[in-house]
Amino acid sequence: MKVHVDGISLDLPAGTSAIDAVFQAGKDVPYFCAHPYLSPVGACRMCLIESGSPRKNPDGSFIMEGEGDAATPKIFWFPKPMAACTMMATEGMQIKTAATSEIVAKSQAGMMEFTLLNHPLDCPTCDKGGACELQDRAFEYGYGASRFGFDRRHAEKHYPLSDYVILDQERCIHCKRCVRYFEEVPGQEVLDFIERGSHTFIDTAEGGLPVGFQGNITDICPVGALLDNVARFRGRNWEYDHTHTTCTLCPVGCSITVDARNGSLERIVAGENREVNEAWICDAGRFGHVFASENRLTTPMIRNEDGELVAATWDQAVDAIRAGMAGLDAHDLAIFLNADSTLEEGIAAEAFVGLTGLASVDYWPRQATYGTDAPTLTEIAQSDGVVVLGADLGEEAPILELRILEMLRGGILPAEFHHGTAIADLRLVERPARKREKLAVISSKPSRLSEQAGFSAQMDAATALAGLTGSSDNAAVSAAANLLKTAERPILVLGAEALASLSGAARSALQTLTQRTKTRILALPAGANARGLASLNLVPRSGGLRYDQLSQARVALISRLNPLAEGQSRPRFLISHDTHLTATALQADVILPAVTNYEKRGITVNLEGRLLPLRPAALKNGEAADFIRALSIVAEALEIKTSIRGIRSAQNLLSERLGVNVAELPIHGLIAPLGMRYDAPAAPYTPLLWKEGMKRSDPVYHAGMIELPMASTPTFVAGDD
Ligand code: SF4
Ligand code: SF4
Ligand code: FES
Repeated sequence: MKVHVDGISLDLPAGTSAIDAVFQAGKDVPYFCAHPYLSPVGACRMCLIESGSPRKNPDGSFIMEGEGDAATPKIFWFPKPMAACTMMATEGMQIKTAATSEIVAKSQAGMMEFTLLNHPLDCPTCDKGGACELQDRAFEYGYGASRFGFDRRHAEKHYPLSDYVILDQERCIHCKRCVRYFEEVPGQEVLDFIERGSHTFIDTAEGGLPVGFQGNITDICPVGALLDNVARFRGRNWEYDHTHTTCTLCPVGCSITVDARNGSLERIVAGENREVNEAWICDAGRFGHVFASENRLTTPMIRNEDGELVAATWDQAVDAIRAGMAGLDAHDLAIFLNADSTLEEGIAAEAFVGLTGLASVDYWPRQATYGTDAPTLTEIAQSDGVVVLGADLGEEAPILELRILEMLRGGILPAEFHHGTAIADLRLVERPARKREKLAVISSKPSRLSEQAGFSAQMDAATALAGLTGSSDNAAVSAAANLLKTAERPILVLGAEALASLSGAARSALQTLTQRTKTRILALPAGANARGLASLNLVPRSGGLRYDQLSQARVALISRLNPLAEGQSRPRFLISHDTHLTATALQADVILPAVTNYEKRGITVNLEGRLLPLRPAALKNGEAADFIRALSIVAEALEIKTSIRGIRSAQNLLSERLGVNVAELPIHGLIAPLGMRYDAPAAPYTPLLWKEGMKRSDPVYHAGMIELPMASTPTFVAGDD
């Protein structure tokens, strides 16, 4: 399809919107209400263009103008400027933007004057300053003056829609992005316009916005009307150091931007990654970051003769470890790391274990797994039958819930142009009908997703699994089994509860089911990088201890895990590598200060098996270091020389093993074969994304004792397997 924008000729796919044609031509048009992942509604009227198309004669030939060879199809222009976001570009269409059309420039300036009629001039104080589309566009496309001299409308400026989102009613320009977002993405009709005309305001149902995905509206509000209450008034946009990295609170691995100011993590906003989180993140990922900049451990600590923990140097920590391990050797050491550790930290641990021959190594949380060929998130969104079994996605992998809801809308992946994701995708429909019969959710507790499913049942995972692979009296289980049988691209999601009940018989029944129905299985990993660490040999060797057998270890090095309540039996000598003075760290003999995942460089592997990069934000953390450093400190105390002493040597080894240059991964990640999976008996684990201490208002947060995300206490078992 040939389209001409300001005289530039383009070849575009059919169905492209006029606004995307303009951007594809490298030209500009202002817009407020269009959004790449929401249906276009034409609410703000800023994206005006002049447009015209050729028309055809009854015989199918174009109506021409001009004579002979100079004749060209006659363009019939619309009599007035049109909104480009809701208009489809058609064959031979001519488009004029403000750059070439005086009428468009004048109309846009008039529209801007109208939009600013009631908008307060808060610009110097508004938190959106520096990232406000209205401010920028008023400067570029406005008159610079107003002909309206009367008093502005006044409304509530600090109107809470929830604990996390504050609405400034005066600033709202009624673009309807937030309303459409709730209806179209999480499928919740909780926000809407109330009243009419200049009295219109947006408000929510009683009880405020539901926690889950509400924070996304603060990203998409084009003005400073909706603000993140955790970050509000803590910094201006241009004062932040922006770091594009990956969230590691759950195994989805959303792209995020970490905004730090003066070394403190102040704000997290969603990054766009079409394949993973599209443009959304969950509320835990957005608001649960306050621990990263509060009460951090900044130097090593050792226990003195009086039994008190005191600050020390790294050399003193080495001496303390050497003294504590006198009479013991590397075989007495147990190494346990958090399942959100990077691949680099994991491979350093693997190398250390290989060198010393120690048997007790493990990561937590680690649960039973199933299969290696996980479907991608896009494949899930484009499936035609999904069964979720024994999972609470809100706690285990929230964005997966949104991708499944996208499947109910038809799984339309936004088109990609040279200028990026389509600004207004005309295939998206406002308030779409949902194909609920494509989704079945079965678990022991109701969840947010079960409310949206065509079939749902409350049932323990083992019974549900047996019913799914055999036969069942339960109507929802039979419907789920039928869904897997009849769908062309069926997908079965197994959550923690289902994986904990996977007996040998259930595994072989599942295998038969997958072969018979071509069902792809996504077994949710328990931790952010549990899938990646499973590709390294980090499971107990023969006679070695698992993490839940920690108390039997003579010496243990544990990284960012907090298993020990006060008075609980513990290893004879305990080295804790942690970011905070947790209950476990308080009982340690040596504490090594750790970096959070917001400050790390490295690779994490998400639930699809996608390698995603972590990049370090500029946070104040004193002498905090990663697990590679902690291992080399212990190696020094044991007087052994490890082959991996830093990120570079770890990445070289990883690149060799994976056949991918991991030091230069694209920010959106890359799916690469991870090789074999190491497995061992696992302790039961129930994921819990929101932890005490993640919110500023938590009492535990104020006490300075922070339970970190994904560091919950395992079930301790007595004796060996
Ligand atoms: S609050 Fe923001 S996103 Fe919602 S309608 Fe108003 S301007 Fe648009
Ligand atoms: S879904 Fe998971 S990875 Fe994404 S923002 Fe939430 S916690 Fe982070
Ligand atoms: S009318 Fe708002 S972007 Fe087109």
